[in-house]
Amino acid sequence: MTPRKTVKDYIRTIADFPHEGIMFRDVTTLFADPRGFRMCVDQMLHPYAGTRIDKVVGLEARGFILGGAIAHQLGTGFVPVRKKGKLPGSVISQGYQLEYGEAIVEVHDDAIQKGETVLIVDDLLATGGTAEAGIGLMQRLGADIVGCAFIIDLPELGGRRKIEALGMDVHVLCEFSGA
Ligand code: PRP
Ligand code: MG
Repeated sequence: MTPRKTVKDYIRTIADFPHEGIMFRDVTTLFADPRGFRMCVDQMLHPYAGTRIDKVVGLEARGFILGGAIAHQLGTGFVPVRKKGKLPGSVISQGYQLEYGEAIVEVHDDAIQKGETVLIVDDLLATGGTAEAGIGLMQRLGADIVGCAFIIDLPELGGRRKIEALGMDVHVLCEFSGA
């Protein structure tokens, strides 16, 4: 009998994208497969299924795909953390470091009420800069962060350590090593 495929088995690796030397972990192949996508969503929310969660917070862009599905499954609301300039209402902003330069993410300042419990989700934890910025936004709004869930961790880039050092519960489904 062939062993059942895991979430990791559905993720495609594309060499030299977006730059030479980078092994891009492509989750579109996971999202496109009905069994793979359901398994991924179920496994991401599994540790939190018995916890009170008011809002799932998705980090642009792949965190929206996961966050919408997880929120639907948990019966919670969904809140997008977006790249600068995309949200129409009054926002708070947070900067973070990229490989080259800085980026800014934003959330509507009325998206979370003080004391609401949130689960932060994204596809990938690399340096942890994006997740740290999302956490910062949630903390400034007074959210109680229940956890941060990702499909992939790249352990060599140290993101998990960085986010756990902030006191966060980190849940990942698989790891990839190598550039
Ligand atoms: C990728 C990925 C994570 C982030 C992880 O997003 O989807 O959000 O990088 O990297 P970090 O842990 O070093 O911050 P990207 O910024 O490429 O944008 P996108 O999701 O909008 O494509
Ligand atoms: Mg992203």
